[in-house]
Amino acid sequence: MQIIRDIATLHRAVAALKQGGKSVALVPTMGALHAGHLSLVRMGRRVADHVVVSIFVNPTQFGPNEDYAAYPRDEARDAALLVEEGVALLWAPDVATMYPGGHATHIEVAELGADYCGAARPGHFDGVATVVAKLFNQVRPDVAIFGEKDWQQLAIIRRMARDLDFALDILGAPIARDGDGLALSSRNAYLSPEQRAAAAAFPDALKAAVAAIAGGADVAKALADAEAAIVAGGFDSVDYVALADADSLERLTIFRAPARLLAAARMGKTRLIDNYAVD
Ligand code: PAF
Repeated sequence: MQIIRDIATLHRAVAALKQGGKSVALVPTMGALHAGHLSLVRMGRRVADHVVVSIFVNPTQFGPNEDYAAYPRDEARDAALLVEEGVALLWAPDVATMYPGGHATHIEVAELGADYCGAARPGHFDGVATVVAKLFNQVRPDVAIFGEKDWQQLAIIRRMARDLDFALDILGAPIARDGDGLALSSRNAYLSPEQRAAAAAFPDALKAAVAAIAGGADVAKALADAEAAIVAGGFDSVDYVALADADSLERLTIFRAPARLLAAARMGKTRLIDNYAVD
């Protein structure tokens, strides 16, 4: 696996991978890879001839009081995992390569980025959309793969790619979960063993709300019950539990498909997100 850190070498390497009409899948990540990321890589191998993974802890998507400095980084470990998965190329630029002095442009997907995580993390999705657009231009993949755990992020990236005419397919990969149902996340590493044991209350509460809504229960009551169950299960606060149109992310007070139950909650200094389809 080639590890590349400058854009000119990246362009040459991707051109070589594409020779003979071969296709390239991009899996953008911030490293600290877990089984969820590896499932994205495997999807990439199924849908394209070569997989390029990017690792870049993007400073512009972290707020001033968030965990940018503390975000787990272990490139050697990540690279070893990617070699085992048959990844062709690791794109690992540093901050100066991604944002050279004078970098002044950013992308805002206004309609989709304001609510939910966007409300709790102002500017976060502008940082995500901007870096993902740059990654698309740098790697020029045929397909890019994102985890469905970050459902709002996925919806924003789809809309950005559509609005800006990026010529690639965007695929969402199903959420990878631990045995107790907690969605895999690099941030789960922040939880103490006691917190980790309690955190299963989060998916449990969301599954109960999905069953209630799908069974015809009042949406507002199902959402309120889920919030109460999350707090009773040991979380300190709930940022939101909402039923949303799966594509536009419009809040729904009456169930209609396709819908998604979206949620974020905090336990100690850890903020977890999750979501489920409501059929
Ligand atoms: O989901 C992530 O890991 C990041 O938000 C992404 C898409 C790699 C952009 O930095």
